[in-house]
Amino acid sequence: MTDEAGRGRERPLPNALFELTEGYGQILGLLDQSIAMHRVVDDVPEISGVDVAWVGEPDGADRIVLGHTVNTRTPAVNGLVVPSGCGLGGQVMLQRRPLWVSDYRSSDTITHHFKAQAETEGLGAMIAVPVMHEGRLFGVLYGSNRETSTFSDRTTRALEQAASRAAAAAVVAERARHAAEVAVHEERRRLALELHDTMGAMLFSLGAGIRTLADELPPEDAVQARLSDLEEQAVQAAAALRVSLYALNAPPEQVALGVALRGDCRAFQERTGVIARLIIVTEVPVLAAAPVKALTNAIREALLNVEKHARARSVVVSVFTLSGGVCVTIADDGVGLPPVEGHSRGLGLSAMSERLERVGGKAHILRNEDGGVTVQAWVPA
Ligand SMILES: Nc1ncnc2c1ncn2[C@@H]1O[C@H](COP(=O)(O)OP(=O)(O)OP(=O)(O)O)[C@@H](O)[C@H]1O
Ligand SMILES: [Mg+2]
Repeated sequence: MTDEAGRGRERPLPNALFELTEGYGQILGLLDQSIAMHRVVDDVPEISGVDVAWVGEPDGADRIVLGHTVNTRTPAVNGLVVPSGCGLGGQVMLQRRPLWVSDYRSSDTITHHFKAQAETEGLGAMIAVPVMHEGRLFGVLYGSNRETSTFSDRTTRALEQAASRAAAAAVVAERARHAAEVAVHEERRRLALELHDTMGAMLFSLGAGIRTLADELPPEDAVQARLSDLEEQAVQAAAALRVSLYALNAPPEQVALGVALRGDCRAFQERTGVIARLIIVTEVPVLAAAPVKALTNAIREALLNVEKHARARSVVVSVFTLSGGVCVTIADDGVGLPPVEGHSRGLGLSAMSERLERVGGKAHILRNEDGGVTVQAWVPA
């Protein structure tokens, strides 16, 4: 606040700082899946009325590992591995809906793989609900009472609400992790290119310099043998550098598309001054190298077209799953396509369509609601 009256109302700085730090802590907590899960489970006894709570998180496709226990008396539940179909949580993994038993130890609707642990911990009734987001299972949330009991609809609903909060937290944390991974690999790639341009070029000119020197000296000169050694060493150093650069430059498959797109958007923004934002939804399937190449080519051409034709202020590149494949859209807020008769017959857009079609994909070019152009490039997964 800048006016006098406003200044009078300002909170003392240490308080504001404290709140900021706290807010920062909460956001960081959200970005860390483990902390977020813990917070959700912590509230479960209070909001649902159960005595004990914990969560099972996926460990591979067909089992969960139990943890984040609240109000337990023994370590019996913590770290337990529950395969799909086993016990109550394993059933929830299969059926993907809330299930409960009034006495875990004697129920005949579930397997008894974990009866001993339930007895050790002193668990009676147990309820479990899936932690899901858009059809994906992020875990199973459990509540349990020490005694035999039934569970009311209110308890089930409270657990389902907690599970949907846990799912939201898991998605946010996953996106944050993915974005961080993409950023790390983008930086590695930048380093690789820089080393290629500096060290690679230096080693090449070193080798060439040694060769010229050797050519200038008489063949019988005693220094020839040492020069040839040095030349060999320069060749070996260049080869070793190439191997390292290749490793640095190649991102793992699951972030390859993100790394390539981020690099392109950044280069575009630096080159043109037009703001380029990249929105990646992480649940996109991992693609083979050929479709990734077709998509990145499409984006490069679309961005080049924005630069050449659009006079845009900003461009948004989004990546998401669509119809069993991956779709990338490049939307600018520029002048839009010229009328059909004024359309020049460039090669770029038709080459983009051809390349996408070769991997089973397609391209669409449309006018968007900002009046600019949206290019949609789709490839099957
Ligand atoms: N983002 C855009 N904004 C406005 N017009 C565009 C945009 N993208 C393409 N166009 C129009 O569509 C035409 C065809 O694009 P295309 O990429 O096929 O060819 P080009 O860019 O003119 O030439 P090149 O063969 O070098 O790509 C362009 O000449 C331009 O008039
Ligand atoms: Mg073009």
